[in-house]
Amino acid sequence: MSEQKVKIFKPKDYETEFNPEAYLQFYYSSKALDDGTRLSLFALPMFAYLIQTKVPENLRQSLIDIGAGPTVYSAISFRDVVKRVYLTDYVEKSLTMLDDWLYQRTPFSWERAIHVIARTEGLHLKNDKEVIAVEEKARKLVENGGIFKADVHTENVLILNDQQQHPVDKTYDIAVSVFCLESACSTHDEYKQALKNIISLIRPGGYLILGSVIDDVIYNSGMSLVGDSKLFTLLDLDEEFIVKSMDENGMDLTTMKSYSLNNDGVAFFMIAKNS
Ligand SMILES: C[S@@+](CC[C@H](N)C(=O)[O-])C[C@H]1O[C@@H](n2cnc3c(N)ncnc32)[C@H](O)[C@@H]1O
Repeated sequence: MSEQKVKIFKPKDYETEFNPEAYLQFYYSSKALDDGTRLSLFALPMFAYLIQTKVPENLRQSLIDIGAGPTVYSAISFRDVVKRVYLTDYVEKSLTMLDDWLYQRTPFSWERAIHVIARTEGLHLKNDKEVIAVEEKARKLVENGGIFKADVHTENVLILNDQQQHPVDKTYDIAVSVFCLESACSTHDEYKQALKNIISLIRPGGYLILGSVIDDVIYNSGMSLVGDSKLFTLLDLDEEFIVKSMDENGMDLTTMKSYSLNNDGVAFFMIAKNS
């Protein structure tokens, strides 16, 4: 039998090899959500609720999602909590898909994900009109913030060009980053530096929400139309290393809330930055 060699892509391959349509279909389509649980759609609404109930409104105005890819669920989850949402990613095709969502040109439907989020919030959306209203609220927040290119390996993270209006915020009340750093980094030192870069975007006392794959070295980024899966590397992480890295970079461990399901291989953290 001939052995087929499977290609595994690396962090440097994202721009050319990551297919955002395939990623959305594989993880966030109705079929994907019927077949499996997506923990981010539970963790983010839960953290959104905690922030809404404990942080005064004037201190929860802005949220930036670093490495959102083509996803908009952070804006949906925080639609009643903040006023401005910035969605960012490294890959141009993902930024185009985010723009397409903002201007309602996308064929991808977030409807099932919206139902999952609403259910976590204890809501039961009765009809299409209610689903559309949720999505519209999230769109408005992204309209108020924006869609930007980001590279976690650069000190300022955001890569701004002069043709584009710059963010109205210089630092953010909340930074979200889900499954990005372990995709973007090849070494633990690189991870610590990239985490530090993200934390520098948060105002003193603001929050980091970090979602991470634990103890895994490869993930499937989705299936192409002809049925090929594209695999990418993940940096092998454990919770202890992540917590230590947050501690070393100015986060206040006494405020940390974490949420992990060990047999799911993911962990979510919410933690405040030292004031
Ligand atoms: C597994 S996806 C996660 C997407 C999304 N956050 C989610 O929860 O489904 C990893 C994302 O990290 C992004 N990424 C890779 N390298 C990056 C870098 N250097 N800076 C910022 N984002 C990067 C990829 O483009 C991709 O969208």
